[in-house]
Amino acid sequence: MAYNLLKGKKGIIFGALDENSIAWKTAERVHEEGGTFVLTNAPIAMRMGQIKDLAAKTNSEIIPADATKEEDLENLVNQAMEILGGKLDFVLHSIGMSVNVRKGRAYTDENYDFTAKGWDVSALSFHKVMQTLYKAEAMNEWGSIVALTYMAAQRTFPDYNDMADNKAYLESVARSFGYFFGKERKVRVNTISQSPTPTTAGQGVKGFDGFINYAEKMSPLGNATADDCADYTVSLFSDLTKKVTMQNLFHDGGFSNTGVSQEVIDEFAP
Ligand code: NAI
Repeated sequence: MAYNLLKGKKGIIFGALDENSIAWKTAERVHEEGGTFVLTNAPIAMRMGQIKDLAAKTNSEIIPADATKEEDLENLVNQAMEILGGKLDFVLHSIGMSVNVRKGRAYTDENYDFTAKGWDVSALSFHKVMQTLYKAEAMNEWGSIVALTYMAAQRTFPDYNDMADNKAYLESVARSFGYFFGKERKVRVNTISQSPTPTTAGQGVKGFDGFINYAEKMSPLGNATADDCADYTVSLFSDLTKKVTMQNLFHDGGFSNTGVSQEVIDEFAP
């Protein structure tokens, strides 16, 4: 159901790779709620082509940008304001990638060039996006910036590898930049800590299938899906959450506050 929550609002959505992507579902929901936006992804992801279908469906333009490159981000932000006809009200950072995970390197055997690249893409890019928006004075007052994260930033999930460290950094950047954006621009910055979700990035994590089933059994409300995450993001972009900022918001069906569930106890009962 649509409520026109984002009518008249303009923004940028990073990270829609295919129809499973959390950013893809979010773009669809934002469009339903009346928001207009520019879609962006790394030039290499563009070549896979699927984002064009999403752009057609949501009447959006696509501007390629590598989120680790400041000049790409400056171009993106300036072009987005030109295309959308003014400053922005919302930005979604939905970007993550670990080279160590991709190459099968264990946490105890990191290649630090891989680590640095993954950190740049997954964590520092959030600072780069916000610094670019800040310097270009691209955000309207009461705008909202959201990035996606995972609970491995707080608790250890062995196969999440160096992404756990990247997410801890990302969440810290949200708090630190959230202070300046709040104080000086009345813009809020939050991270959503999402349940395991079957996307390209999610399924790259070793043992993902077992893990998502475990999370499902541990969460009183069940895992939050990508569609659920899109709904939650819409609420954070809307005017109904104006004073929520510098938070890491768990969106996980209750997983993060559950010690054990009956289903898991039953698995271990003799
Ligand atoms: P996805 O694979 O669909 O999206 C990741 C996106 O990052 C892709 O569109 C990819 O092209 C983009 N990307 C990679 N390098 C980039 C670069 N240099 N510049 C710009 N974009 C780049 O997967 P998903 O799951 O939708 O990921 C979105 C976010 O959600 C990520 O931050 C991920 O860590 C987070 N997340 C995912 C969970 C899951 O289980 N799938 C759980 C919790 C958080």
